[in-house]
Amino acid sequence: MIPDKVPKEDVFHGSLDLKKEAHISSFEKYKDLYLKSIESPDEFWGGIAKDFFWKTKHTGQFLDYNFDVTKGEVFVKCMEGASTNICYNLLDYNIRERNLGNNVAFYWEGNEPGDDLSVTYRELLHRVCQFANVLKSQGVKKGDRVSIYMPMVVELVVAMLACTRIGAVHSIVFAGFSAESLCERIMDSKCSLLLTADGFYRGDKLIQLKLLADEALQKCKDMGFPVKKCIMLKHLSKEAEDAALGCQSPPAKRSCPDLQEKQWVKKSRPVPQVPWNPEVDLCWHTLLCDASDECEPEWCESEHPLFILYTSGSTGKPKGVLHTLSGYMLYTATTFKMVFDYQPDDVYWCTADIGWITGHSYITYGPLANGATSVLFEGLPTYPDVSRMWEIVDKYHVTKFYTAPTAIRLLMKYGSEPVQKYKRESLKVLGTVGEPINPEAWLWYYNVVGEKKCPIVDTFWQTETGGHVLTPLPAATPLKPGSATFPFFGVVPAVLNESGEELEGPCEGYLVFKQPWPGVMRTVYGNHQRFETTYFKKFPGYYVTGDGCRRDKDGYYWITGRIDDMLNVSGHLLSTAEVESALVEHEAVAEAAVVGRPHPVKGESLYCFVTLAEGVTYNHTLEAQLKKQVREKIGAIATPDYIQNAPGLPKTRSGKIMRRVLRKIACNERDLGDISTLADSSVVEQLFQNRCCSAV
Ligand code: WTA
Repeated sequence: MIPDKVPKEDVFHGSLDLKKEAHISSFEKYKDLYLKSIESPDEFWGGIAKDFFWKTKHTGQFLDYNFDVTKGEVFVKCMEGASTNICYNLLDYNIRERNLGNNVAFYWEGNEPGDDLSVTYRELLHRVCQFANVLKSQGVKKGDRVSIYMPMVVELVVAMLACTRIGAVHSIVFAGFSAESLCERIMDSKCSLLLTADGFYRGDKLIQLKLLADEALQKCKDMGFPVKKCIMLKHLSKEAEDAALGCQSPPAKRSCPDLQEKQWVKKSRPVPQVPWNPEVDLCWHTLLCDASDECEPEWCESEHPLFILYTSGSTGKPKGVLHTLSGYMLYTATTFKMVFDYQPDDVYWCTADIGWITGHSYITYGPLANGATSVLFEGLPTYPDVSRMWEIVDKYHVTKFYTAPTAIRLLMKYGSEPVQKYKRESLKVLGTVGEPINPEAWLWYYNVVGEKKCPIVDTFWQTETGGHVLTPLPAATPLKPGSATFPFFGVVPAVLNESGEELEGPCEGYLVFKQPWPGVMRTVYGNHQRFETTYFKKFPGYYVTGDGCRRDKDGYYWITGRIDDMLNVSGHLLSTAEVESALVEHEAVAEAAVVGRPHPVKGESLYCFVTLAEGVTYNHTLEAQLKKQVREKIGAIATPDYIQNAPGLPKTRSGKIMRRVLRKIACNERDLGDISTLADSSVVEQLFQNRCCSAV
């Protein structure tokens, strides 16, 4: 399956010699180890597990599973019988066994240049223990779910790890999501507690997080699910404003005296007035005053739930992807180490938000498991100017840098000059994630950002996979621009045709996986049936990714994009059904159909067709209302780029909307293929006539 020989020509390596110190220094080594990982997973993963702390050892098989729905329930179990604690492994064990206490865990870089601080492993441990005690004092117990809706601050990592220390399950909701989305997620995972902050700035824009959190909690209450407590971190407000909140000044810290003070934005920015409900709201800093910084970890079974993270589902309702303790820990640690070829003197920077899986696996868990030093960035690549990323790379001497194609395409528009203002000499490996990267963007990243020195790791994976599944290894894999290359250890991909037959050699079809790896999701929280239907029903015996892919003559995999009703906007998955249902909730809309239209920076943009209710006329006010409606229901990332008034939609005789035809209309492509099943073909011409030409 892995080719014997990889091409020597028309491939890229990066001119730096990484082989000397690399974990995997040649394609042959990758191949040997890959075969071992597939043939004897127990031995392969068992060897890796030795580097971690286990309170009790596992008994029996390393991985036990069933992927075939026709043979019974789908399940994956890893290291049954073992017990551990991930927070203990990431912090206590690294401090004790590897003497990393004084190493920097995070360089925090705020939205405003100059607003920064650093936290060592020891300081982080103390903060986590203190906050774990706060959670306990609020009655949070092993297995309870805690919802987290916070900006990119060190306390977000503290909150995650504090949950894991006491065996609670975090459910982080990206701080760009709306109050309604937050409410939906809180209710689905039945969280008893919400952690949030007063607000934060994204560039010039103030996001009043506490207001949104309050709105979400009110909605939860109205729907019969009152959340007991909400703990608010003061990220923006200064001491002077605190009296109004009934919130005391931050305590004098025992362990890291100035973390809190420094983290407040010192610039003269307007600070939001924060509403305060004494029955529900609690002040983070006040609670810390009474909290001890010692907290015994809760030892949990291997398959104990670690976290829930929601991802868009093609039926519209988001799915709570559940990951469990041991498998996820081993997998994120190993992928981080190998894919970025992590070395002890590295400074690593992943620009993702922790609210997405990339941030969970490759800001918090993978890097901390390796004792790495990372940059944690609150801001935007374009604020205060389009050189910000490279300024940060030079400031911290970043060696391994991980970002999304959408960011690369955005910066590419400004040319090479803003990049070349900074030296970037420290860079060794560049990574991308989230969507297919077009070869033009890949080459710009390689030539301009990396100056032909750095290999690019194009990592394909999903919220569901927990970590990288198709990816190059920087010192081993010859690179082709736009290809995620080969499977990671333990991962067995296949390409299927429509009838579910495995294709050999060069081909194109459905990307599936034949067996589990330790980090794969275990279930959809509260809905195991949905887990089976979504991922295992179409092709029994396989995990179906929902992505299409091509395998070329050299055996390289190329992701061609989603083949279900999902869109990828700026690296964020959205379901068409979710946007459609937000639109039809407006009284003026009778029916809606949403498709993706290619976009030069975002990958895809949202093109929405709406059929209005009887008697309603279409105008700009309605259009603005509809956009607002979607933004408020889902979040700013889902704001439609185009809305077209569609008096009729192309439907089959059985009433199914032909999205394929709508996609062509959105792109103004007249070659519609076979449309003989259309009930009324005149609607198509009408839609072509009224196309939206530019985004408003
Ligand atoms: C897409 C993000 C091509 C893909 C980690 C997948 C990619 C979805 C790549 C998962 C890549 C992610 N090349 N496509 N390197 N990485 N995707 O759950 O469609 O937010 O199914 O996880 O993003 O998105 P998710």
